[in-house]
Amino acid sequence: MAFAQRNGTLCAEQLPLDELAQRFGTPCYVYSRAAIELAYASYSSALAGRDALICYSVKANPNLAVLALMTRLGAGFDIVSGGELARVLAAGGDPGKTLFSGVGKTEIEIEQALQAGVRCINLESEPELERVNALAGRLGRRAPVAFRVNPDVDGRTHPYISTGLRQNKFGVPHDDAERLYAKAAQLPNVEVRGIGCHIGSQLTGPAPFVEAAARVAALASRLEAAGIPIAHIDLGGGIGIHYQDEPPRPVAEFVAGALAALGARRTGLILDPGRSIIGNAGLLLTRVEYVKPGAAKNFLVVDAAMNDLLRPALYDAWHEVRAVREAPAGARPVTYDVVGPVCESGDFLARERPLVAGAGDLLAVMSAGAYGMSMSSNYNSRPRAAEVLVDGAQAHLIRARETIEDLFALERILP
Ligand code: LLP
Repeated sequence: MAFAQRNGTLCAEQLPLDELAQRFGTPCYVYSRAAIELAYASYSSALAGRDALICYSVKANPNLAVLALMTRLGAGFDIVSGGELARVLAAGGDPGKTLFSGVGKTEIEIEQALQAGVRCINLESEPELERVNALAGRLGRRAPVAFRVNPDVDGRTHPYISTGLRQNKFGVPHDDAERLYAKAAQLPNVEVRGIGCHIGSQLTGPAPFVEAAARVAALASRLEAAGIPIAHIDLGGGIGIHYQDEPPRPVAEFVAGALAALGARRTGLILDPGRSIIGNAGLLLTRVEYVKPGAAKNFLVVDAAMNDLLRPALYDAWHEVRAVREAPAGARPVTYDVVGPVCESGDFLARERPLVAGAGDLLAVMSAGAYGMSMSSNYNSRPRAAEVLVDGAQAHLIRARETIEDLFALERILP
């Protein structure tokens, strides 16, 4: 197990978290290499023997060390900005295994992607098709494209991370896809490669994922009957992880369902998981600054805040909080809200948790490897946390803690 209690202390692989806090300070993101590799293996083994590509979704955690690890495992990448493309290239990732998604790609970003030689641009609208065609023409290239089709399937997840419904901004409507593909097939500077979809994130069961796969596969068959070959089907990411009491649904179940939905098709399969690769492989290590008893509630005021981990404030997300040091026998837990120092009532990491903790103690906010650091900010002029990747008995600092000077290095006072 990546994170387990050993001799009374919570450890990351072989290293006690209190030692890591001593060495790197808090707040600090801690990741387990073994857990990342194990999660990746759940995909690669479920897809063994198939024409398939796993494109790690960079937005989940874009640290260069993570991207380099993915590259070494053979992964491609799912990116949504020029910034993410630059990270993939800087980490030694293969642009030929990289998909460029997103509703608002700028001209510069599209040019960068074409010049880098990405595997596919996932188009999300008709004007984007026209823009890509024009830019590719100017560069004297043919752009490899797919449409992200909105299959109108309810992912049954939090509304902010549900993307496959008719009312979402993502993808082109399922009913319009055939017309758009026919148009793309006529344009001189684009080459249709495949079809994509992504119905939402933190899906806790395979049913909607499989339903979307079936709808997209049927569409691919109709397109091929109309003379438009479809070389790959990209089913997106979205496979959920364990936060609280979700019954763990193995990745293999989602993959098996999707493969069954594709039936006898020979089409290549692409998946772009983010959270399920790194979510459970990381935690946020934080120290209690104050114990603050209140009239209605008791608070543990910690040194991490919503700027470090936004998910509880933004999605009301539940993250398990564990005390790093095991409670002494007979200690009575007290119910606390775990809050940060930011000046917002929404600044909480967890609410109503029975914990044994005092000032100076360390807490671990679990399952924070995905969309933790990547959504962090400098709100309240707080330097962003350090990131540490543990590999067995070794800890590597993969992102140094920001300094105060970093925060205003780009700012200028009026002359
Ligand atoms: N592919 C596409 C086209 C996506 O839009 C996303 C995520 C993924 C793949 C990866 O999904 P995953 O496997 O990580 O579920 N910040 C939110 C999650 C936003 C997900 C956005 N799109 C959160 O913290 O829950």
